[in-house]
Amino acid sequence: MSRRVIPGLESPDPILERDVRARLDLVEAALEKAVHADSDMLAETSRYLLAAGGKRFRPMLVLLAGYFGDPADPRLIPGSVSIELVHQATLYHDDVIDEADARHGVPSANVRWDNTVAILTGDYLFARASEISTDLGTDICALLARTIATLCDGQIREVEAAGRVEQTEVAYMEIIRRKTGALIATSCRIGGMLSDAPHEHLDVLEGFGEALGLAFQLSDDIMDLTASPETLGKEPGQDLTEGVYTLPILHALGGPEGDELRGLLAAGPPEAEAFERALAIVADPRNLAHARAAVVAEVDRARALAERLPEGPALSALVQLAEFLAARCQARGSGGSSSEPSGSPPERGSGGSSSERAGASGSPPDRGKETGS
Ligand code: IPE
Ligand code: IPE
Ligand code: MG
Ligand code: MG
Repeated sequence: MSRRVIPGLESPDPILERDVRARLDLVEAALEKAVHADSDMLAETSRYLLAAGGKRFRPMLVLLAGYFGDPADPRLIPGSVSIELVHQATLYHDDVIDEADARHGVPSANVRWDNTVAILTGDYLFARASEISTDLGTDICALLARTIATLCDGQIREVEAAGRVEQTEVAYMEIIRRKTGALIATSCRIGGMLSDAPHEHLDVLEGFGEALGLAFQLSDDIMDLTASPETLGKEPGQDLTEGVYTLPILHALGGPEGDELRGLLAAGPPEAEAFERALAIVADPRNLAHARAAVVAEVDRARALAERLPEGPALSALVQLAEFLAARCQARGSGGSSSEPSGSPPERGSGGSSSERAGASGSPPDRGKETGS
């Protein structure tokens, strides 16, 4: 199967794009093979979300990170497959946790079948990911297992915080670092590892991935409030009804309409007029600007880390991807140099992340050649 649209990879370099597309096609074919199962039902449920859509953002990162070593190393394909299967597994489980009813514009597996089927399918995909990664060596298996553990930790922290209007923005950043940042960070690191990139690049790649992952989740949170149902593949405002209080929601709770919002949320998930009013409060430009500033801060952190990697088309593509995340939630126009949003980003938790270990901070000079999208 060939994927026509690859968000964020709009030809920074035609040869790179052609090669990455060709490798993504190999990943796609390997994914289809990986979800075969003895049981017809398991085969159907396992391929369901993969077939419904998905950006394959993480495989693309594995492949791009592979350019810091040998990008043609064949291990990058099963590495990408393992990562994507882990991601898909978390989506099946996430839709059970969030009691979601749609993903990619189709009923989520918990609705199309039921929770039991969604959970077992997620388990099966985790198992397939583990099995495939065993051929890639102990280091990769261990990293993947650790990453899944971090992800579960992030998801359970979110469950613990659900519906709590008093949670802090710092705690929220730590949740998303774990539930989303970790797997994206690992995608970048594994790309470096499997291509035998110089060892000193691995922490930088991981740190870059973490910053990208945070920008990814923060932009996803903004789009949950601002994007159309067609773009989202589900109704906007899901986070509000699920009690997942994302950055714009937390900022609104601390703002002038905080008391009114608390009142609207006090009786549980808001419905009808209460929902519309709550959505209007949290989607106020001031609250969105605050969350967009957080996206910009992570994108700039990613750019600063990217400065420490060798220049070339792959690096430009990675930076362009970061800018794509800022652009998709209107945090910044393409190119990464203008229209800074107002508002200050929240402080980040001190989770001892790899990027902090790498010690990067601040904004690098504009390379002036990324196009964004
Ligand atoms: C969705 O991830 C879950 C989050 C971390 C926000 P993606 O947006 O990458 O999902 P797909 O793969 O495109 O479906
Ligand atoms: C997605 O999280 C799952 C993980 C990050 C593990 P969300 O619940 O925030 O994302 P969507 O909106 O359902 O894709
Ligand atoms: Mg969800
Ligand atoms: Mg969730």
